[in-house]
Amino acid sequence: MYNFTIDATAPKSELYAELARAADALTDGEPDAVANMANVAALLWEYLPDVNWTGFYRVVDGALVLGPFQGKAACIRIPFGKGVCGTAAQTGETQLVEDVHAFPGHIACDANSASELVVAVKHDGRIIAVIDLDSPSLNRFDAEDAKGIELLALVIADRI
Ligand code: SME
Repeated sequence: MYNFTIDATAPKSELYAELARAADALTDGEPDAVANMANVAALLWEYLPDVNWTGFYRVVDGALVLGPFQGKAACIRIPFGKGVCGTAAQTGETQLVEDVHAFPGHIACDANSASELVVAVKHDGRIIAVIDLDSPSLNRFDAEDAKGIELLALVIADRI
């Protein structure tokens, strides 16, 4: 059993520093990518307030394929350039979407999702996956969330 003392109500910078430490501890020395993504998805699900989906899409043969996650069952395959995740995978740039309904091509996996944050995970200069967070609240994610998830992506980049 893992016990983390993470205060979900702490300021975001502290919360994400704690989450990065916990993700590091959970994945340290574990070579199995699925196990590591599953634990990180669970960590984000447990400690991030106001989210309805946390998880991974992996780059497989030039498209995104659903990886370990928490939340409702989701679309399995997303082409590069499509939706929020496909845009992050194509550009490598973090996608911070205040209102998913205003994002051209947004793929609605859960009708409750209102805002979304997607961060590319890069390893050896290649994009290998994206981390996707959805929220039922508009404008749930800000630059601090983006920075926090980008830090997490760096921590786990060679473990997934
Ligand atoms: N909304 C995403 C699809 C993935 S689900 O949110 C889990 C998108 O537009 O890429």
